[in-house]
Amino acid sequence: MERLQKILAQAGIASRRKAEEWILAGRVSVNGKVVRELGVKATPGRDTIAVDDQVITVQRTVNIVLHKPTSYVTTVVDPEGRRTVMELIEGVAERVYPVGRLDYETSGLLLLSNDGDLTHRLLHPSHHVDKVYRATVLGLVEREALDQLRRGVRLEDGVTAPAEVTVLRQHPLESVVEIRIHEGRNRQVRRMFETVGNPVKRLKRVQFGPLELGTLPPGKWRWLTELEWQALYAAANLPAPPYPFSTREKASSPRDRGRNAVGQKRFGGAKRSR
Ligand code: URA
Repeated sequence: MERLQKILAQAGIASRRKAEEWILAGRVSVNGKVVRELGVKATPGRDTIAVDDQVITVQRTVNIVLHKPTSYVTTVVDPEGRRTVMELIEGVAERVYPVGRLDYETSGLLLLSNDGDLTHRLLHPSHHVDKVYRATVLGLVEREALDQLRRGVRLEDGVTAPAEVTVLRQHPLESVVEIRIHEGRNRQVRRMFETVGNPVKRLKRVQFGPLELGTLPPGKWRWLTELEWQALYAAANLPAPPYPFSTREKASSPRDRGRNAVGQKRFGGAKRSR
């Protein structure tokens, strides 16, 4: 038995706070009976839970890491008809959504989740989760530019928080810099480098909180390991829901996409229609 707001959040349809608002507004029912108090519990799979009379299907909580290639949008649909990251996650039966965004031209680690609470927490401006980017920039990165990046850069929406910056390669034509930030403003890294005089040529996110991109090839996804799972919820300051694979099962590798942890074909393993 779990609290209704938790079940609704885990179903990926709302944050826990939004679900509480729905309950208080009398929009949620359990086995046909409208619930208006926050303490009510139900059992996913046994009780019929509905929002505005629409029965919801409770999925297990899953989180995946995708290596987003360039030239994909980080939205579920794109009004301009460009390719979306959702086209790359064949084999995930659960309805996962991108946690935050990477620009169309940015590649790298993108977390997708069906846990509304986790998403809400990780994206909330008050919650600082570190993100590490590898930026290939034009020109040499001068001492003054590095100092500015480290101290904070004045952008049109305010001064950025101090960043950790490591130069990986210096060259008069193009340099490579790793930058660790915890804010998530629109096109932040590009704007920071542009402001200090080193426009970004290529940008790749290599780390998101405790998750690392590693050697995952562009366009591929993988399940989180159990260690990553625990570390991610700890970073979000949330209790971790059950890891979706039992100890006897192993989270399938990207090569096994379309199959579940015990090697059976997943329902919905075919191309997603979204
Ligand atoms: N900063 C950017 O400029 N772009 C991204 O995609 C992410 C961070």
